[in-house]
Amino acid sequence: RNDIQHAGVQYILDSVVDQLLKNPDRRFIYVEAAFFYRWWKRQSSSMQQTVKQLVNEGRLEFVNGGWCMSDEAATHYSAVIDQMTMGLRFLNETFGPCGRPRVAWHIDPFGHAREHASMFAQMGYDGFFFGRLDYQDRDRRMTDKEQELLWRASDSLTPPMADLFTGILPNGYNPPDGFCWDQSCDDPPIRDDPDLEDYNVDDVVTRFLLIANSQALVYKTNHIIMTMGSDFQYENANLWYKNLDKLIRYVNARQAHGSRVNLLYSTPSCYLQELHRANLTWALKTDDFFPYADSSHDFWTGYFTSRPALKRYERLSNSYLQTCNQLEVLGGPVSRNGPFGEGDSQTMKKAMAVAQHHDAVSGTAKQHVANDYARRLATGWKHCQVLVSNSLAALSGSSAERIYCDNLNISVCPLTESSQKFSVTVYNPLARPVTWPVRLPVNGTVYAVSDANGKSVDCQVVPVSGATRQVRRGRGFAVNELVFQVQAPPLGYSSYSVSQLRSGPPPASTQHRSPLAIQNKFLRATFDPETGLLSSLSNLETKQTIKLTQNFYWYNASDGNNSESNQPSGAYIFRPNSSTPFIISRTAKTESVQTSVVQEVRQWFSPWVSQVVRLYTDSKALELEWTVGPLPIHDDLGKEVITRLDTSIESAGVFYTDSNGREVLQRKKDFRPTWNLKQSEPIAGNYYPINSRAYIK
Ligand SMILES: *[C@@H]1O[C@H](CO)[C@@H](O)[C@H](O)[C@H]1NC(C)=O
Ligand SMILES: *[C@@H]1O[C@H](CO)[C@@H](O)[C@H](O)[C@H]1NC(C)=O
Ligand SMILES: *[C@@H]1O[C@H](CO)[C@@H](O)[C@H](O)[C@H]1NC(C)=O
Ligand SMILES: *[C@@H]1O[C@H](CO)[C@@H](O)[C@H](O)[C@H]1NC(C)=O
Ligand SMILES: *[C@@H]1O[C@H](CO)[C@@H](O)[C@H](O)[C@H]1NC(C)=O
Ligand SMILES: *[C@@H]1O[C@H](CO)[C@@H](O)[C@H](O)[C@H]1NC(C)=O
Ligand SMILES: *[C@@H]1O[C@H](CO)[C@@H](O)[C@H](O)[C@H]1NC(C)=O
Repeated sequence: RNDIQHAGVQYILDSVVDQLLKNPDRRFIYVEAAFFYRWWKRQSSSMQQTVKQLVNEGRLEFVNGGWCMSDEAATHYSAVIDQMTMGLRFLNETFGPCGRPRVAWHIDPFGHAREHASMFAQMGYDGFFFGRLDYQDRDRRMTDKEQELLWRASDSLTPPMADLFTGILPNGYNPPDGFCWDQSCDDPPIRDDPDLEDYNVDDVVTRFLLIANSQALVYKTNHIIMTMGSDFQYENANLWYKNLDKLIRYVNARQAHGSRVNLLYSTPSCYLQELHRANLTWALKTDDFFPYADSSHDFWTGYFTSRPALKRYERLSNSYLQTCNQLEVLGGPVSRNGPFGEGDSQTMKKAMAVAQHHDAVSGTAKQHVANDYARRLATGWKHCQVLVSNSLAALSGSSAERIYCDNLNISVCPLTESSQKFSVTVYNPLARPVTWPVRLPVNGTVYAVSDANGKSVDCQVVPVSGATRQVRRGRGFAVNELVFQVQAPPLGYSSYSVSQLRSGPPPASTQHRSPLAIQNKFLRATFDPETGLLSSLSNLETKQTIKLTQNFYWYNASDGNNSESNQPSGAYIFRPNSSTPFIISRTAKTESVQTSVVQEVRQWFSPWVSQVVRLYTDSKALELEWTVGPLPIHDDLGKEVITRLDTSIESAGVFYTDSNGREVLQRKKDFRPTWNLKQSEPIAGNYYPINSRAYIK
């Protein structure tokens, strides 16, 4: 689709291989195994032989080497490990030890997570290079020559387990200014024919030496790195290499006149080797590189929540992939080819691996690309479902047909809605036993549920909320949900049978207007009878009560037309027009549902915002399940919707957020641990990525 964005990775590889063969000094690094793999499998065996030789001689070097260059904010560590495994395994199988990347290379992701550095250290990389960091952080580091540092990336692992040398590149992923020689840039080529009037060698060399010398001032050693390339470049690699050959020749020729600059083709691992030989001590860093701002009104914190439906789908797919992988092993070969046909886990693995990309799960891709990511995942689900059916048939000895309830998010499941009698299989991909509430869309009012031993299980029927019915837009017709707790063993499944005893409208007695509280043996949540909002939360074990209110608001998005900066709010960047959000509604209409399995307060704020506050009988967690959308856009204002919890806890602006769903970092409002922050975006500059948890004390 070059009409949307010009790109042609296949031509880059064709062209670069050709150019590398022309001069043994030339070097190229390649990052994303997914793209390389697509090209590689279409090559002749003689071309593959040629490429292997280039790799063996270090002329073509793999760096990073995951299936993709992952996003660091919105990814879960388990999916990152999977996608790195897929890429590194391919390189090892294809090229052996010479294909092994020695450095991690994230020149584009928009902020850097401590957990990513920890994983890279534990994967055995020698160092990590990246391009983007906060502009104030960079200024401070340039002054103090701390653009190269030692990142101690874990609070819990004993050093040096999670220690990783980290280098910040001088020009992001770009060449120095004025030295871009690609068909996609406009800098003049090196014209070295002295017979022609446009001879410019002296000018180019002088400019280059100036840049090299000023770069040397902000790095510690006598070796400096320059990235020569950029986004989508090298489709016609001759332009770059022909000019680089000349640049090297003419810059080094100055040595005859006393220049001390020696220029050569290199790679990140060679550069890292020289830094290592310098035997210096590097500054230590223990926090992370979030949030990322590239100027005073450009905070790249919008993407933490961009395309939430794709983000959810990616997470759900990760969970399903674990189930698929496990059942492929537990069920044996018949899982891949059994009574339900041919299934596989590979399709989902690949779809999940590309979904980790820093323009995929981040929510920042163009629309047709975002659609493609979702389509790949959906195909992965289909292949895994065949595998899971085959595997469960083998494990259970029953080849009865299985239906997958893929749309429980809108209370749609054709089988459970229309059947009087069915059985339910739940699989637990975790390594510990779980007890979990299941909610199935149904049409009846009274059901009996029993476990595999015939023991009856407490179950209740609650009405499907108005908000859910609205968002499902005519798909499905279940009026109720059947709710019961299931138990499943580690890496195992359990089955329940369900039969309908009575149909008809839900008994009115289960609903109470104007609730004051919901409560189980652990927690009690109260609601303000006037506003319908949450008002307090008590821990019944410690007998502590805090004030707690919660509501929904929206920040008016900046459209970019103002004197301070013309940056609008968008998929990458969060920029509210003002620090005061608009309240969507001061009050919520409420109704409550109280049963022996679950208690709910359903809140309706506006036609496009509603919520269920839910407390299961055996749970220590209060669940807030919101439904937001479609956003009203008739007023032509961008809306950054938020929910805000206001509490009586005095936390002094200190809070905690996870890193890729694993360890936790301390955050402080309007503060950065390693430099003196000038806060220019009081809202967007205080946002951090959250994948699994955030808390205050
Ligand atoms: C790399 O591939 C070789 C040959 O297939 C295999 O023996 C080795 O275990 C692989 N290394 C890793 C780290 O997977
Ligand atoms: C590196 O530096 C340390 C301390 O400054 C010194 O003890 C050591 O010998 C040096 N190593 C090399 C290989 O020069
Ligand atoms: C519900 O989930 C499915 C996939 O699991 C997704 O395609 C769909 O967009 C979701 N629906 C809503 C309303 O979020
Ligand atoms: C389910 O209930 C709805 C509303 O009562 C009704 O329109 C629909 O026909 C029922 N469907 C089935 C399969 O029972
Ligand atoms: C919302 O922001 C837009 C542009 O950023 C501005 O034109 C408009 O006046 C703002 N509206 C309100 C109600 O603040
Ligand atoms: C917000 O909107 C107002 C009114 O149009 C405008 O004057 C102001 O510059 C905007 N501010 C930002 C940060 O977009
Ligand atoms: C803001 O500027 C953009 C382009 O610079 C323009 O398309 C848009 O109409 C402007 N919006 C307003 C509200 O003036």
